[in-house]
Amino acid sequence: MSESFKVFSDAFREQFADRLPSYLPSSGLPSARLREAMLYSLMNGGKRVRPLLLVSACEALGGTAKQAMAAACAIECIHSYSLVHDDLPAMDDDDLRRGKPTCHIAFDEATAILAGDALQTLAFEIILDTPDYDADLRCRLLKELGRASGQRGMVAGQAVDLQSVGVELDEEALQAMHALKTGALIEASVLMGACIACPDLNPDTEMHLRQFARALGLAFQIRDDIIDVESDTATLGKTAGKDAASDKPTYTSLLGVNGAKHKLKETMTIVHEALAKAGLEGSRLAELATFVAQRTH
Ligand code: IPE
Ligand code: IPE
Ligand code: MG
Ligand code: MG
Ligand code: MG
Repeated sequence: MSESFKVFSDAFREQFADRLPSYLPSSGLPSARLREAMLYSLMNGGKRVRPLLLVSACEALGGTAKQAMAAACAIECIHSYSLVHDDLPAMDDDDLRRGKPTCHIAFDEATAILAGDALQTLAFEIILDTPDYDADLRCRLLKELGRASGQRGMVAGQAVDLQSVGVELDEEALQAMHALKTGALIEASVLMGACIACPDLNPDTEMHLRQFARALGLAFQIRDDIIDVESDTATLGKTAGKDAASDKPTYTSLLGVNGAKHKLKETMTIVHEALAKAGLEGSRLAELATFVAQRTH
């Protein structure tokens, strides 16, 4: 990671940590416990990859970080909700997230379910309540976010994931599952940033950006599968070896660790080719993609 990328991403995370809690006012909400659980899940050391992607895509296309900030908060709310629910006993049953007890352990199961629900709807409210976004842009952002989150996106991927415990998926089916559970929100992050900068995004640029983001989403989850096997719990901040213990189909279970690393390398070639076709290989998105592929937690 270059020094300038590190300086940029650290500074962004700090600004983001100031902005995100502003959507959960300290007074006037009916349930202090619900707010606590939402804040606990949002403000606990996430890498902020999706907000970084959204802001970087916006800047790469001539927009500003300031314009992108509200949408970046919205996508992180959806992501945080997906993790709170992913960790629940009925799903992955994890007790550690980002090095701390998961939401349902720190609070209780019902509160974690509700915190996830409320984080999800907060994402849509944030976009609707941002005066800087005109009516067309709000519709565009809501459509992108809604599609990526639900029955044709992340939730669908989670459903396939849970149905696939103990099942040997072939590579095509595994890739389709990863594209939904992780890729969809990564694609939405990039496209939301792009359409904030360019309401009339050129269809070719849009196509190449979608190719970039889909490949990056796949790379993100392949790396997640690899570090689940290779890393330790302290580094990961989540329980290492959990996928194999839960009999989940992953890239490492299908191809072995070396096969998964090879697939990651191949996927990253597609990532950079697509970015070059979009004319954005010189932008920060390139370094961000490398960070995703090399992340250690
Ligand atoms: C973890 O996402 C869940 C997956 C989609 C694999 P991140 O690795 O982005 O989690 P945080 O937000 O940085 O903790
Ligand atoms: C989760 O995938 C993807 C989501 C949509 C939340 P994982 O179950 O592999 O994520 P971790 O490893 O628990 O973060
Ligand atoms: Mg899971
Ligand atoms: Mg999980
Ligand atoms: Mg995982």
